[in-house]
Amino acid sequence: MPLFDRKTPSEDEVVSGSDAGTRALSVAAVENDFVEGVYDKLAKVYDLTFGPTLHPGRLQAIQRMNIQAGERVLEVGVGTGINLSLYPKDCSVTGIDFSGSMLEKARERAARKGIRNMRLLQMDAGDLKFADDSFDIVYAPYLVSVVPDPVKVAQEMSRVCRPGGRVIILNHFLSPSPILSKLERMISPYTIHIGFKADLDLPAFLAQADLEPVSIEKVNIPRLWSLVTCVKD
Ligand SMILES: C[S@@+](CC[C@H](N)C(=O)[O-])C[C@H]1O[C@@H](n2cnc3c(N)ncnc32)[C@H](O)[C@@H]1O
Repeated sequence: MPLFDRKTPSEDEVVSGSDAGTRALSVAAVENDFVEGVYDKLAKVYDLTFGPTLHPGRLQAIQRMNIQAGERVLEVGVGTGINLSLYPKDCSVTGIDFSGSMLEKARERAARKGIRNMRLLQMDAGDLKFADDSFDIVYAPYLVSVVPDPVKVAQEMSRVCRPGGRVIILNHFLSPSPILSKLERMISPYTIHIGFKADLDLPAFLAQADLEPVSIEKVNIPRLWSLVTCVKD
C-alpha cells in the first residue's frame, strides 16, 4: 500500500495565471494517516530541526496577537508545545494536535515549565470539536501546509473564532518569484516526507478559504514565511 496518494494537477491548474478561486493549492497531496506517521517520527527531533529557525516568526506572531487578559486562544497544530511558554499567563490556551507523540512532548514541556493556563487535546484540525465562536484568537503556526485540506482547516478555524476575533496563520507559502516557485513545486512532493508542502499557494488559499487578511507580514530569515492576520466579521 502506498504511504500517500499524490495527485499531480495539470500545469494549467497550478500556473499562477489561473483563477485563484479554483486552482490547485499545491502539486503535492497527503492524507491524515501519512501526516500523522511523519509527525510521530519527527516528535523526537522536531525542536532541534524546526525550533530555532522558525522561532522569529513565532515571536512576531505572539507580538502581533497582543493577547489581552482573559482571552481564549486556540493553537491549532500545537506540536511539541514550542509556543506554550510564549503566551501570557493570564490568558487561557487550548492546544490541539492529532499526533499523540507530538502531544506527549507538549505535555512533558508544560509539566517541566510549570505552564498551567492551558489544556492539550488530541483532535483533527479539519474537524474541530468546539462550538462556533468559542475562541478570541485562533492561531495556526506552521500547520496549513501540513494538512490534506488547508481550506477546510481555515474554515474550521473561522467557525470556532468569535465575531471580531482574530484568525492568524503563520506559514511558508509558494514564492511569487517564478524561479523560486518552480523549485518549490519541484521539491514539494519530497518535502511532504519531512512534514510540509513547499508550494502552498497563498492567494488561492485565501480566496478558497474566504479569508481577507488585515495584514500579511514576511517573517523569519530568509523572509520566506508569512504571518497572515485576519479578523472575523
Ligand atoms: C510543523 S508542526 C507545527 C508545530 C508548532 N505549532 C510550531 O510552532 O512549531 C505541525 C503540527 O501539526 C500537526 N498536524 C498535522 N496535521 C494535523 C491535523 N489534521 N490536525 C491536527 N494537527 C495536525 C502535526 O502533528 C504537527 O504537530
